[in-house]
Amino acid sequence: MEIKIEEKDKQLSKQEKYLKALEHIKLFYSYESDLMANLANTSAILKELFGWWWVGFYMVKEKELILGPFQGPVACTRIAFGKGVCGTSWERKVTIIVPDVDAFPGHIACSSASRSEIVVPVLKNNEVIAVLDADSEHLSFFDNTDSEWLEKISKVISEYFK
Ligand code: SME
Repeated sequence: MEIKIEEKDKQLSKQEKYLKALEHIKLFYSYESDLMANLANTSAILKELFGWWWVGFYMVKEKELILGPFQGPVACTRIAFGKGVCGTSWERKVTIIVPDVDAFPGHIACSSASRSEIVVPVLKNNEVIAVLDADSEHLSFFDNTDSEWLEKISKVISEYFK
């Protein structure tokens, strides 16, 4: 199975890109059973289609969030419960859109280029098992369309967590 993001896919509308992303994600999760491989490719698909600064997963492990598969610059490896945008999303079990990271108290700056961010929890049996984090170098880059679709993606992914 080959999944390829073509140059023309990058010209699609946001909605169309998410449709494509979800289609690809469902397909490769049905072919491959290794979760880490699938999360790595999920990050790659989102990075390629949307060109975000950073996108990836933090996994709930050892009562912390630990860096998982991602695309983008080197990032912080561990985030405590309730800390930063990721830890807050974990604590509250909700998606958080941050239009300006400098205005979010306790924001953890892994990269000084990041200006806005969205964090979506991945829930299984109403427990957060991971978070999906995307960062942009532009202010106010993420909106409700992003949260709606990333939550759909997170739901599909959660079915593959044991
Ligand atoms: N900004 C995040 C930390 C993770 S990085 O953005 C990749 C936070 O405040 O939790």
